[in-house]
Amino acid sequence: MQFINFKTAQAASEYVAKQMVQLVKTNPNASFGLATGSTPILLYEALAKDYQANQTNWSQIKTFNLDEYLNLPLDHPQTYHVFMNQHLFSKININLDQTYFPQLDQNYDYLIDSLGGIDLQILGIGTNGHIGFNEPGSALDSLTRVVDLTQETINVNANKFFDGNTDLVPKQAISMGISSILKAKKIILLAFGQSKKAVVKTLKSITKFDINFPASALILHPDVTIISDDEANE
Ligand code: GLP
Repeated sequence: MQFINFKTAQAASEYVAKQMVQLVKTNPNASFGLATGSTPILLYEALAKDYQANQTNWSQIKTFNLDEYLNLPLDHPQTYHVFMNQHLFSKININLDQTYFPQLDQNYDYLIDSLGGIDLQILGIGTNGHIGFNEPGSALDSLTRVVDLTQETINVNANKFFDGNTDLVPKQAISMGISSILKAKKIILLAFGQSKKAVVKTLKSITKFDINFPASALILHPDVTIISDDEANE
């Protein structure tokens, strides 16, 4: 695992955006695994800015989102479908038919494999070490499945996205598994802000997979970069 720190989340996001744009240019059929949450917003802003300035051609790119809440109508403002449209898909010339989300009654892992796999997976990380919605206890060989959110994740997401009201946060989601994530060719995990200081510290000390800290699985992948900002770094 490689660690790169930037002074600000803005600088870090611009660096990752550059890598993504480079991949789009060198491989116009590339596939990205995409994350939601507050962390990648600046990255998506930088990609939108690049598109405005350079008309980078996303028309053949495929994207696979990591997760989606269950039991929210798909047009609810807090679904990850709406999030992605708002922050990225409406800002670039991506073909929406090639933007995929995990759904019930669908074999998402098979779909990803059959479309050529993921070239670059972008991840955030939860304060309990979750990646996607793989909460502590998620098995190393887990694939896309329905998951129960922990109370910690419900509380954090209530404060960030549901006006502090935990009753409004769905209690379940559908998420790519740890094994699904590890199949990506390259992985970049973003960790920004004070609240991620403890998880960045833990990531630096990881030597083997620990089921209680799902992001520890990344140690098993040959090409992972953890990108932090000063606030998340000691
Ligand atoms: C959310 C998402 C994750 C995200 C993580 C961190 O609940 N399911 O994909 O990476 O938690 O969120 P944030 O970036 O808002 O800190």
